[in-house]
This record gives sequence, C-alpha cells and structure tokens, in this order.
Amino acid sequence: MKKFARTTVTAALPYANGPLHIGHIAGAYLPADTYVRYMRLKGEDVIFVCGSDEHGVAITLGAKKEGVSPKIFVDKYHNLMKQAFQDFGISFDIYSRTSNPVHYETAQEFFRTIYDQGIFLEEVSDQYYDEQEKLFLADRYIIGTCPNCGHTGAYGDQCEKCGTSLSPKQLINPRSTVSGQTPVLKLTKHWYFPLDKYEGWLREWVIEGHQDDWKVNVYGQCKSWIEQGLQPRSITRDLEWGVPVPLSDAQGKVLYVWFDAPIGYISATKELLPEGWEKYWKAPDTRLIHFIGKDNIVFHCIIFPAILKAAGDYILPDNVPANEFLNLEGDKISTSRNHAVWLHEYLHDFPGRRDELRYMLTSISPETKDADFTWKDYQQKVNSELVAILGNFVNRVMVLSWKYFEGKVPAAASLDETSEKRKSIHAAHGKASEEINTSIREMIDALETFRFREAQFQFMNLSRVGNKFLADTEPWKQAKEDPEAVAFILNFALQVVMTIGEAGKPFLPDACQAIQKQLNAASLEQASVGFWKDKSVLNLLPAGHALGQPELLYRNVEDELISKQMEKLKKPEQTSPAVVEESQATLKPLKPTVTIDDFAKLDIRIGKVLHAERMEKSNKLLKLTVDTGIDQRIILSGIAQHYTPEEMIGREVTLIANLAPRKMMGIESQGMILTAEEPDGKLKLLQTASDAKAGSTIS
Ligand code: MF3
Ligand code: ZN
Repeated sequence: MKKFARTTVTAALPYANGPLHIGHIAGAYLPADTYVRYMRLKGEDVIFVCGSDEHGVAITLGAKKEGVSPKIFVDKYHNLMKQAFQDFGISFDIYSRTSNPVHYETAQEFFRTIYDQGIFLEEVSDQYYDEQEKLFLADRYIIGTCPNCGHTGAYGDQCEKCGTSLSPKQLINPRSTVSGQTPVLKLTKHWYFPLDKYEGWLREWVIEGHQDDWKVNVYGQCKSWIEQGLQPRSITRDLEWGVPVPLSDAQGKVLYVWFDAPIGYISATKELLPEGWEKYWKAPDTRLIHFIGKDNIVFHCIIFPAILKAAGDYILPDNVPANEFLNLEGDKISTSRNHAVWLHEYLHDFPGRRDELRYMLTSISPETKDADFTWKDYQQKVNSELVAILGNFVNRVMVLSWKYFEGKVPAAASLDETSEKRKSIHAAHGKASEEINTSIREMIDALETFRFREAQFQFMNLSRVGNKFLADTEPWKQAKEDPEAVAFILNFALQVVMTIGEAGKPFLPDACQAIQKQLNAASLEQASVGFWKDKSVLNLLPAGHALGQPELLYRNVEDELISKQMEKLKKPEQTSPAVVEESQATLKPLKPTVTIDDFAKLDIRIGKVLHAERMEKSNKLLKLTVDTGIDQRIILSGIAQHYTPEEMIGREVTLIANLAPRKMMGIESQGMILTAEEPDGKLKLLQTASDAKAGSTIS
C-alpha cells in the first residue's frame, strides 16, 4: 500500500434546506467522525472538513416556499445544522458554508482555470421556462405524461413508474411543478464540461485502478456509469442565487450547484488553514477520502475527479466509502412527510445520551445494503448491549475493586499454580488475553477498511470477554480463601477496563471519558496512545493507583421513552403515498353557486406578519400581528400544527379583512388567514404573488 503523510477527510456538504435527520448521520457524518477520531488517536496528521451546501434550485424554491430570501433561508438551516452537529459531537475541524466569499472566489477561480484552457464547450439551446415563476426548470421540476407507459406523473429526467430515463422534451403535456403552468421553450446559453473526453482516463483510474480497494457498491455504480457512455455536462444555470459565472457574457448565470459544492471542501480547507491548505489538496502524499451517501457517488467518483484533473495539480480521492440508505420503521425517511428522526429533536428528547445514538447507528450502519432503524431495536441495543454488556462489565469491576481493595488497583502478584482453582484462573486469563488481543487487531483492521459496524462489534467483544472472564474466575468466591487470586483477577480486569476506555474512543467518546474518570486515569492517557500501534491489551494501571468512584455508564431506555418517539412518527402519517391516492376520492364536494356580488362582499387582502407567537393552552392557535396595509391587527389562526411562529414572522399572508371580530381563548381575532386544506387535513398557507405590497386587495 502507498505510504501517505497526511489525510484529508471530507463529509458531504448537506443542503441547507432542512434540518438533519438520522439518515444523514448514518450515511456520512458518523462514519467519517469515527474514522477521523481513530486517525487522530493513531497520531496521524488529519483534517476533517465539511460545511453547508447553500445553492441550487432546491434552496431557491425552499426559500420561496417559506416566503423569505435565499440568504435568510440558508442562514436559518446552516445555523441549525451547525449547532446540531456540534451538540451531537461530530468533530469537524471546520464547518463552513458555500455562501462564504472565500468559496465564491475559489469556485470562480476553478471555473476560470478550466475555461482559460479552452476545455469547456459553449452551447445555446432551448430549455423549458416557467413564465409565471420566471424560472428555467431543472428536469426534476417538470412533470408530464410518459411517452413510454402513459404514467401522468413522469419527471423530466425519468419516469419512476416504468423506469425509462427521459429528457424533458419527450414528456407529453409538460407542466411546471413549481407553478403548475405549461412551460415554454426558451433559448439560453450554457457552458458544458466535456466528461466524454475523460472516459479513457476514468476507465484507467477507476475501473482498473480501484477495483480492489473501493467498496463493491461504489465501484459497481462507477463502472456501470462509465460503461453507459459519458456525455458533456452543463455546469451553469440561469438562476439568481448561486456563484456567478465569472465571464462578462454570463449575466444572470450561476455555477451549477454540483460544480460549486464539492469545491466547497477546498474553500473550507482554505478557511481553516489560510496558509497551509495547499498541501492537503495538492501534495501527492496526501490521502483524500470522501464520506458520502450513495446518491452522491457519481459526483464524487467521476465528475468531481474529472474537474480536479482538468484544473490541474490536485490530488484525487483515494477512497470514497459511500453508504447505502437508512430507512425508518420499515419506510423511507421522508422530509416532506415528516417521517424522520430529526437530530436536534433527538438531542432534545434524549439529553446526555448521544452515545446511544452513535452506538445504534453504527451497529446498523448501511455499509453494504439499506438498513432499517426502529425504536424497538434502539431500546434493545441500549438495554441489552450498552447497559448489559459494556456498562455492566465496567461497573462490576469498579464495585469489586472498591469492595475488596478500597478503590486501589491491587498488585498482580505472580500466581503460582498451587490449586485447581488457580490453574483455571490462569487458563481463563490466558484465553481472555488472547481473545481480547484478537478483537483489538480485528477492530483496527476493520477501522482501516471503513467497516465500522464490524469494528464496533469487535470493540464490544472486549466487554463480552471481560464478563466471561469474571464469570469463569468468580473472584467473589475467592475473597476469603485466596485474596492473592482476587488481586490477580481484578488487576487484569481493571487493565481491560482501561483498554476499553481507550479502544472505544472512536465509537463512544462520552462513555470513554466517563471510564477514564472512574479510573482516575487522565494522567495515564498519554501512555495509552501506544495502544493504537501496539494493538494489545493495556497494562498501564500501576498497583496502588487510586480509582475514582463507580458510576453507571448507561441506563435502560424505558418503554415510555420509546413509545413517545413512536407516537411522534405516527402523527404526520397522513401524507404517505398510498393515502394521497386514496384521498382524491375524499375531496370535499362543490359548494352551491354564489353570485359575483356575494363574492365582492369579501375584503381579501395581502398582509404581512410582523410578529407571531403560540397561544398558551392551545396547540392549534398562533397569535399573529399582521400589517394589513391599512392597520396592524391581531389575528388568531389555527395553523399551529403546521407552521411554527418562526416560520410565520416576515411572511406574506392572504386574509379576510372584514370578517366580524371573534373572541377565542380570551383574545379577539380581527380577521382570518386563508389556507388551503388538503384532503388529509394538512393546512398550507396560500402563496401570495411574491412582490405584492401589504394592503393589496384580491379580487
Ligand atoms: N448537498 C448534497 C446532498 O446533500 C451533497 C453535496 S456534497 C458536495 O446530496 F461534494 F457537493 F459538497
Ligand atoms: Zn413510464
């Protein structure tokens, strides 16, 4: 294997368009964090970079939907994600963001470097344009009828019913998913990266070069992609939000998000090390590793490497350990259906217990195939593994050491084999040491090869073996007759606890800290660094060393905690695909006809929400202060289960301004906010014409 002097580890930049959920964590961030912690323990020179991905159509539309500017929108989610990562203990060296000036410069410089070599192609073509939204539509935002199977909900890039891949112009009856309007074709110029020209090189580098060291799922996807034939990829878009294309004839054009985002890894490194960043991206003895989910494979294994190559003198990824997907309770994780476990909510609902989630997610890590997270399984893993195996072993050893040796490490006298019992103690000791050393070696081997599930299993084996050793040697039975034997047993058991406190650091950092505290071993920690090279059980606790107090490392997860989480998941179930189809039959019937005069009696206007808060003792109502253009007034609105006060502030709403005031929960509501009620009961605020002034009337 090639010798590397340092390692650059990246984890996919998450889109700043929603909070993080356990699928994100299991897919990229936790494995990356585990790996980086391991590298640091080994004493390697490693940097761990990440940040928010803040561009792209999804962000533009997300902002529109929340009625705020893209900047306000990404600020909100960037801060939320950054905080959640920090609270969870993901140990990035930097968590940056792609709206930073240094990123704009870096991405533009990349573009210019490749442009100046004459590599890009320039082409004018007609593309679908949504006239109402003034937006060129990305393929995913156009739906229509599939020319192959007649399915009416086919996307511009693929029909998900029959699987045919499509281009937008093949769709019959195309519609914009943004406005519902029929889009028109409009000419526009874009720049293309000629990926086809890199085919020969990619074959050599990926197909021939990484057959043995890349994961099967990663390698397979790349191979089939390359073999299907590569085409030029457009790397610019007509959008207002993004990194402007640095050319004078590119007004209103920005870099395509998948061009700029991976460059974000480099910008983040520049921000971290303004002077020293280059060696982490250009020195041939730097090892680059990208942690990602499987939907990002082609971007990291084919497109971005080709771009790095075109830009010249950058290193290429040495490995891309992509994970498959995580499901939740047997169903796809879905942001729009709120079928997810949100990281910030978990941290709130399980204070002081973040190791448990690390443990659970690593033990079901979707390394080779999709995996399923269930709360029952979570409870089972915590109670019967963390509590019953790891916590139990550490606690027994601590309690016995206090009981028999007043909290001092007993000296491990050499035990002559004068009795059968002593012989069996020796045998148990020999076997346990051997098993522990084997597990340590296998754990490290698995960490080296990105098999974290296996690595954590081997780590847990140390406690399993420890428990077995205590059961075999029964120190509590020897206390009276053979105190020397008890000292021998507990000395070893304490060294194993110390070993566990070191070996577990990549997986369970909080527990390991607690173990070190109980052993009162902070001063010995320096010496334990050798563990990661020696790969064998530690023998660092000197006889007579004073231990700390025993404390429980973990406590059981009670049924109640789990059922609460399961309840939470049930609530927003209304919109699972099956239910939506059914609900079309349950649309409300048409109301009786009204005259235009009836309608004209209503004063419907645009208002702007100045302030919003929850109403005490009501889980339905929000109390809004609304600027109607003619006055400011209080309106109570029954949307509290669908919108948070934070989401409402600054938002434009449509309201009936001349509705007779009504008192609810002691407060007078002076009007009514209009919402659309979906068949399943979900309320959505009406989109207002985006630039209409407060006070504008609707007719
Ligand atoms: N934002 C993308 C996603 O969530 C990942 C971008 S990774 C990067 O799928 F390399 F482009 F940064
Ligand atoms: Zn089809």
